[in-house]
Amino acid sequence: MTASPPDTPIAPAAAPAVAPAARAYFEGGAADEVTLRANVAAWRAIGLRPRVLATPRAVDTQVTLVGRRWPTPWLAAPMAHLALAHPQAELGLAMACAAQGAGMVLSTQATTALEAVARAVLATPQRGPLWFQLYPYGTRADWLRLIERAQAAGYEAIVLTVDAPLQWPSDRERTAGFGLPRDWPQPNLPAPPTRGTLSDLLAAAPDWDDIEWLRAHCPLPLLLKGITHPADAQRAAELCDGIVVSNHGGRVLDGLPATAALLPAVRAAVQGRCPVLVDGGLRRGLDALKALALGADAVLVGRPLIAALADDGARTVAALWRHWLDELRGAMALCGAPSLDALTPQLLCRVPTDG
Ligand code: FNR
Repeated sequence: MTASPPDTPIAPAAAPAVAPAARAYFEGGAADEVTLRANVAAWRAIGLRPRVLATPRAVDTQVTLVGRRWPTPWLAAPMAHLALAHPQAELGLAMACAAQGAGMVLSTQATTALEAVARAVLATPQRGPLWFQLYPYGTRADWLRLIERAQAAGYEAIVLTVDAPLQWPSDRERTAGFGLPRDWPQPNLPAPPTRGTLSDLLAAAPDWDDIEWLRAHCPLPLLLKGITHPADAQRAAELCDGIVVSNHGGRVLDGLPATAALLPAVRAAVQGRCPVLVDGGLRRGLDALKALALGADAVLVGRPLIAALADDGARTVAALWRHWLDELRGAMALCGAPSLDALTPQLLCRVPTDG
């Protein structure tokens, strides 16, 4: 059991346990997967330009998010259907995250009840944030019922995903014949996702009025996930408690730029009014350091955690977090940064990429 190397999607040893069609679902992206590849490449293409003889005597990775101080700037991104990767599913992921001080954003489409995940996380003193990701299926009353359920279980914020009102199988999933088994558990769905014609889907898609309504009715801090345009970021920052710069890991609309390229303009548009988080293509501790220096307050990670979970459940996920945290701490020290606040764009430079 080892932490997966950064580029190994699902370790070969675990591959037999994860059906090929499920691998296509976990690892793939939309269309030609241009955005999926760009996300990863963009972090690598950022160079570092540290000053020497400035090594701090200690390094502190704590971060303040939505009113509280947390041990690390990392969260697990919301990801659906994790029981396809490992029987421990979201529970294994959540326990490993909490044990290593990383946060957990549980997906609406998780295969584990939100209450069970909350119990595991909240019982771990060194944990990170516990947030619930909402897909706005069904009616506004359905959303609110689910939010109240999450609040009662102890979730501390709602992350509303706004970049995927329409979803359809990727080319990779079609080729692999991916489909969910019959009676697949989805214990947190507020209502079945809208099916039927395109016009049914379009009619069910949320808009800014829904965000204003939610802001007025949601009892928890509200973050919007899937913001990429500075004008949307500006509007979101007026209404919400945080935004996640995300192109959904290149899974929805292919052709969006890498999130590393989008982050600076979004950060500038927000003007410090709320925290800005980022995800997409982060594959190691060094990538997190670059994202934080580029202006992110915290980062979310997706596919590498699935690969780790598929390998040996919570044990490998915990090993991966430890490895990344060691790398982040070491890189902060080499960059002369005693705390995350000291990570600024002055540390970064453009370097030629090896592709
Ligand atoms: C996702 N993502 C996602 N996002 C979301 O808001 N709700 C969800 O249910 C899911 N489900 C999901 C399943 C799988 C298999 C993946 C890989 C991703 C997107 C996720 O939260 C995140 O934005 C990306 O995964 C980040 O990119 P990386 O780290 O995977 O490159």
